[in-house]
Parts: sequence; C-alpha cells; structure tokens
Amino acid sequence: MKGIVFSEFLDMVEEKFSIETSERLIDEVKTSSGGAYTTVGTYDSQEIMDMVAKLSEITSISVPDLLKTFGRHMFMRFAETFPKFFEGVTSTLDFLPMVDSYVHLEVRKLYNDAELPSFTCVSPQPGRLEMTYRSARNLSDLAEGMILGTADHFNERIEVKRESIQEDPLAVLFIITKLQE
Ligand code: HEM
Repeated sequence: MKGIVFSEFLDMVEEKFSIETSERLIDEVKTSSGGAYTTVGTYDSQEIMDMVAKLSEITSISVPDLLKTFGRHMFMRFAETFPKFFEGVTSTLDFLPMVDSYVHLEVRKLYNDAELPSFTCVSPQPGRLEMTYRSARNLSDLAEGMILGTADHFNERIEVKRESIQEDPLAVLFIITKLQE
C-alpha cells in the first residue's frame, strides 16, 4: 500500500483524536518505517490494519466505523489533490463508475505498484447504482467510506446498502440510491 494512504491516516488521527494518539500508534504498532511514510513508498497493507486495530482499542470505536471515517477523510484529500479527475462531473452517481475505468487507471500510471481494487457498475434505473467491490485486501469498509465521501463532495444525500456475495468472499455489492434533497 502506498505511503500516501498511511500519511493520510495518521493526519486523520491527529485531526479527529490527537497528536498523542497518532504518536502512540506509531510507538505501539511495530511499523516498518517508524511512522515516516513517503508518498511514493510502498508498505505492507497489514500495517494499516494493525494501526486501525490499535486505534479501535484506544478509542473503543469499531474497526468498520474507523475505516468508514477514514474513507471519507481520504476521499476529501484525494479530491483536493487530484482536481483533474472531477472536471465536468457533477454528481455522485456519475463519478463512481469512473473510479474503475478512469481514476484508478490514472493512479496506476502514477504509481505502477499501486494495489487497487476492482469495481463493476450497473445502473438498473436512474438514481440507483449497483457497484461491486472486489479486492484481496478486503477493505470494503474503506470503500463504503469513500462512497460516502463522494456524496459529501457533491453535497448530495445517498443511501448505501451492502450485500455480501456468497460465491465470492472477496467481493461486496453496494447498492447506492440518490435521496431527494
Ligand atoms: C479522486 C478519487 C480517487 C483517487 C485519486 C484514488 C486513489 C487511490 C489510491 C492512490 C489508492 C492507494 C493504492 C495503494 O495504496 O497501493 C486507492 C486505493 C483504494 N481506493 Fe481509490 N481513489 C479515488 C476514489 C475512490 C473511490 C470513490 C472509491 C470507492 C468507491 C475508492 C476505493 C478505493 C479502495 C477501497 C482502496 C484500497 C485498496 C483496496 O481496497 O484494495 N477510491 N485509491
């Protein structure tokens, strides 16, 4: 996993909890880099899971809730860092199908060793998107947070329901509905 994800995570911990909490995570989780992640460096994705588990222990907030909060935060930062991906796009349901076919493809050009999930999207009716997430890293809670972060960005209200897929334990189906203002 790229260093940008780790540094955004530690920034979020500082902002939402405290500097002491982020220092404690770095001290108590045996991190390979001692907490000094470079944006382009690549680190073991288990390390972020260890930090999230430790943060959950410290704050008594569940791991899924922390990953969702982190997804929302990370999306906001990505939107600031990569404005180009949003040119001409005005809504959550128009942007989300572009993540797999455009955004992550461009990310792969920037970081050729990026570990990215795959998404397949179907829109069965206007105002509704069915998005299937699949990744060996099983970060569907992070994905859910990023979907919610997309709606924050476009100032829209959405409902996200999720269903597991029996024959594929690495996949999760998100059913996203745009709600009226
Ligand atoms: C401007 C928009 C976006 C940018 C620039 C972006 C970029 C990235 C980058 C740099 C990574 C890290 C790859 C690595 O560490 O090797 C990543 C991972 C990820 N992205 Fe995106 N992303 C964007 C939008 C989204 C959205 C909207 C979703 C959810 C629908 C999403 C879902 C994920 C997930 C879940 C991962 C973690 C890796 C995994 O699950 O296997 N991304 N993305």
